[in-house]
Amino acid sequence: MVSTPSRHRRKRRYPSVAESRVPRPRRFLVCEPSHFGVQYAINPWMHPDTSVDVDLARGQWQALINAYRAHGHTVDTVQPVADLPDMVFAANSALVLAGRVFGSYFHAPQRRPESTVYDSWFKAAGFDVYRPESVCEGEGDLVPAGRYVLAGTGFRTTVEAHREVQEFFGVPVISLRLVDPYFYHLDTALFVLDDGHEANIVYYPEAFSPGSREVLQRLFPNAVLATREDALAFGLNSVSDGRHVFISPGATALADQLVRHGYVPVPVDLSEFFKAGGGIKCCTQEIRS
Ligand code: ARG
Repeated sequence: MVSTPSRHRRKRRYPSVAESRVPRPRRFLVCEPSHFGVQYAINPWMHPDTSVDVDLARGQWQALINAYRAHGHTVDTVQPVADLPDMVFAANSALVLAGRVFGSYFHAPQRRPESTVYDSWFKAAGFDVYRPESVCEGEGDLVPAGRYVLAGTGFRTTVEAHREVQEFFGVPVISLRLVDPYFYHLDTALFVLDDGHEANIVYYPEAFSPGSREVLQRLFPNAVLATREDALAFGLNSVSDGRHVFISPGATALADQLVRHGYVPVPVDLSEFFKAGGGIKCCTQEIRS
């Protein structure tokens, strides 16, 4: 009998998937919800007769900021402005890639003044700001994923703006059509899990037109697919740092899937903001330098 030398028998230890997920520290821009409220209806979640508990909203928002800081992320704040109740949704203000800022142009007249306030913040922070010619709601509809910028249209941001984004950054922009009014922004139906060219994503397929679904399948064959329950719980409105996923606690099935894929869910409840149709990602603008 030939005996195997012991060094061949010794079990080599590979890192588990969970151990291999490496977070990248992020820089976020946020806006305190001092003037948050539901004063008009521009998406199906909003009912102007809904009362908002501003103290509860502030507490929930602060818990999100604390969670970001506790995980090593930098958080900058822009001063909130009275009469701009949606200004807390910082993600709509811009797309920032490699220190270049592509500003916003809101669909709803009520939100249009927000662009100037955010632009002033960016300028004071040393950035030049490009003002789009067509309706474009920042990271609400523009999601950098690997080699592409994924871009939502159908309710807010226009295809013309997608072309402007491509021209400005020189990055291929993939237009995706949203078809369900509850998921009116791309960031309510899809989020990115990690960096790098092979970045993976999570999405709720039924929020997209059949053709756009096929595009997502082709580009991200290993994507994590979420259910309607996850999506209605704002689970797709998550922020990932490559390891930790800041996620709505209601998206339980999705959180379980993420654990199986080696990610660490960090539940943060922003239920008061759901009344305006926004969650974690909506409140978070990433500044990529
Ligand atoms: N009430 C806001 C609107 O309808 C919510 C914006 C949510 N932001 C987002 N990034 N999805 O415009």
